[in-house]
Amino acid sequence: MSSNALYTDLSGYYDLMCSDINYQQQSASIHRLHQFLGNNGKQHLDLACGTGPHVRHFIDLGYQCSGLDINQPMLDMAMRRCPEAQFNLQDMTAFYLEQPVDLITCFLYSIHYSAGIERLKSCIASVHRALNDGGIFCFNSVDKHCIDNRLSIKHFAEFEGYHFAFESGWHYNGQGEKQSLNLSIAKRQQPFTQLTDFEADTSLHQTELWQDQHTMVATSFAELQALLAPYFEVHIFEHDYEKIVPWDLSSGNALFVCVKI
Ligand SMILES: C[S@@+](CC[C@H](N)C(=O)[O-])C[C@H]1O[C@@H](n2cnc3c(N)ncnc32)[C@H](O)[C@@H]1O
Repeated sequence: MSSNALYTDLSGYYDLMCSDINYQQQSASIHRLHQFLGNNGKQHLDLACGTGPHVRHFIDLGYQCSGLDINQPMLDMAMRRCPEAQFNLQDMTAFYLEQPVDLITCFLYSIHYSAGIERLKSCIASVHRALNDGGIFCFNSVDKHCIDNRLSIKHFAEFEGYHFAFESGWHYNGQGEKQSLNLSIAKRQQPFTQLTDFEADTSLHQTELWQDQHTMVATSFAELQALLAPYFEVHIFEHDYEKIVPWDLSSGNALFVCVKI
């Protein structure tokens, strides 16, 4: 699978892969943070918006929404889901808005799609330029030093008579500014046995298998804070969408809330 296949040829499976994500809870949590730390404005942009699930919830929360993504098939689905919103085919590492907004979100670690520190700096500068005074930028991130290469998340689903197994995990080789997100999608007519080894189980049955490695930017939270500091007052919270808890200085996943200065 090419590094974009999940967001182009396989985009029809994207929502299935994410079917256990509580998009409503994530959106409501960021809405609360925006009420505490933001400027009361209602113009929202979702960066790397994918098929638009967060945009849908922000519209329902009363925002005027727009979404930006680099892959048109994802935007096509987002437009069907959110006909009220504006969508924009752009690269988030160098984007421009005609009208600034009050809240910019970037979910599911998509900020790491800035494929290196220079692109990440350019993304941060674009976000800053696109925000109104007091506007906020919210995203989640993983600290490269906390990545455990042995861990992955598996998820099983059924769709149109087929069984699907999705697996994703971070990989960081311990140095430098690149990490990868490894993804596998397996599709077949027989159910997957959840406890068997994914590869072994897959080889026993007639299975279509796609494997993909996205190269993404790797940073520590200290490096990320330093990149954001010239533009934003940075607040870091635990990666918990149920309650707002300050980051404990050691968790490897966190929610960044950045107020424009
Ligand atoms: C993991 S998906 C997340 C989608 C959505 N935010 C969600 O939470 O379901 C990552 C998205 O980032 C988009 N993407 C990757 N690189 C990008 C870039 N440089 N600029 C804008 N979007 C990008 C992909 O097309 C894809 O839709």
